[in-house]
Amino acid sequence: MKGTIEFLKSFATDRDVASITPSSKYCVRKLSEHINFSTTDVIVEYGGGTGVFTKHFLKKMRPDARLFVFETNDNFYDLLNSIDDDRLTVFHQTVEDLLELLPADVVGSVDHVVSGIPFSFFDWEMKIDILSKTREALRPEGSFLAYQTSGHLKDPLQEAFGNFTTEFCWKNIPPYFIYDAVNRVNGASS
Ligand SMILES: C[S@@+](CC[C@H](N)C(=O)[O-])C[C@H]1O[C@@H](n2cnc3c(N)ncnc32)[C@H](O)[C@@H]1O
Repeated sequence: MKGTIEFLKSFATDRDVASITPSSKYCVRKLSEHINFSTTDVIVEYGGGTGVFTKHFLKKMRPDARLFVFETNDNFYDLLNSIDDDRLTVFHQTVEDLLELLPADVVGSVDHVVSGIPFSFFDWEMKIDILSKTREALRPEGSFLAYQTSGHLKDPLQEAFGNFTTEFCWKNIPPYFIYDAVNRVNGASS
């Protein structure tokens, strides 16, 4: 309930929040089935919000794994930044600055990028720019996992990654698709 109130407050003043409630526990678990936490060293999260994915990942991650979260909203940034965990770094900046902000040893080594940012608000060039930077950050065979309410990511994902699968998670307000695109070394168009 506290998370929903934080969302409603932020939604009213910041269009980029793009949702009136945090993701449901069910959909957080559903997306997390795409991650093998025992072999994962680095996760990057786009749009942490009130931290429903962030906190779940920290529970599941190994003690030596790392999590980098990007969040532009002031209120949500403060909430995420108050999480006391040495494995977590929170950037109060847009994901467009990803490659400048991630430590050099992390770029090209990320196992999973998990994204809730509203791609439907971005034009084609910006979608492709963010997805291309995401591929650069991922290790070979690492994956981009996005949850989105519509099918508008299909064409950009096909263009930038050359592959994706989708799964519908209906136990959420609103229901959304989970996309999984793999950073194949051969077989993608960019
Ligand atoms: C739909 S909410 C998802 C929040 C949370 N992960 C969840 O599942 O409940 C999208 C979040 O992305 C953030 N956001 C939007 N555009 C962003 C950007 N360009 N860079 C970083 N964060 C962004 C918003 O402030 C918001 O917190």
